[in-house]
Amino acid sequence: MPLTVVEHALATHILTQLRDEMTPFEQYRALTHNLTQILLTEATRHLLLSPKTIRTPMEEMSGAELAKPIVVVPILRAGLGMLSAVTELLPNAHVGYIGLQRDEETAVARSYYCKLPDMAGATAIILDPMLATGGSAEQAIMYLQAEGAEQIILICAVAAPEGAAYLIERFPDTHIVAGAIDRRLNEQKYILPGLGDFGDRLFGT
Ligand code: PRP
Ligand code: URA
Repeated sequence: MPLTVVEHALATHILTQLRDEMTPFEQYRALTHNLTQILLTEATRHLLLSPKTIRTPMEEMSGAELAKPIVVVPILRAGLGMLSAVTELLPNAHVGYIGLQRDEETAVARSYYCKLPDMAGATAIILDPMLATGGSAEQAIMYLQAEGAEQIILICAVAAPEGAAYLIERFPDTHIVAGAIDRRLNEQKYILPGLGDFGDRLFGT
């Protein structure tokens, strides 16, 4: 299951607002938050559960809880806009940060920060709204694999077919969950139709 494109009317509705060049940046945080919660619901659909016996006020029953620790890893800076949506639904998740920035000329991402909690045996959920060439996600996945993450899920709002194909071939065990797969990259490695520079639109830069 390397790629899931979330087909959901509400996700499409929110994504259309994020794409619209008329949407002001002050609406961007709430839209990003809301879309991320829909994508996260899909991304966590098949997480491993372990049985847990509890008592309701009425009687004992067999329930279940998530079996593996979750570490959520926003890619700075745009991935920060997705973080609160995840910690709201997964308050026990530990948080790691990876800072990556694409060079404006070459579109190759340069790593400038990495702070991760114990990843051994964890399910890592990478947050990055844009998957363009796949270079940033590639570096993030390599960090997490090196630290012992057992399972890696990448959540993005919009993916380019080029970047998605690259990651699927390179990391067939990573599950990519995207709000949409767009047409292609342009010469500057921006996604078409895309939504422009997510970080700039989110933070008003
Ligand atoms: C953007 C985006 C991804 C990356 C995707 O970040 O948030 O991290 O580009 O491109 P890629 O798949 O070609 O690597 P950017 O480098 O612009 O940094 P920012 O989040 O600080 O704006
Ligand atoms: N990063 C963005 O923010 N947008 C793109 O289209 C590509 C990379």
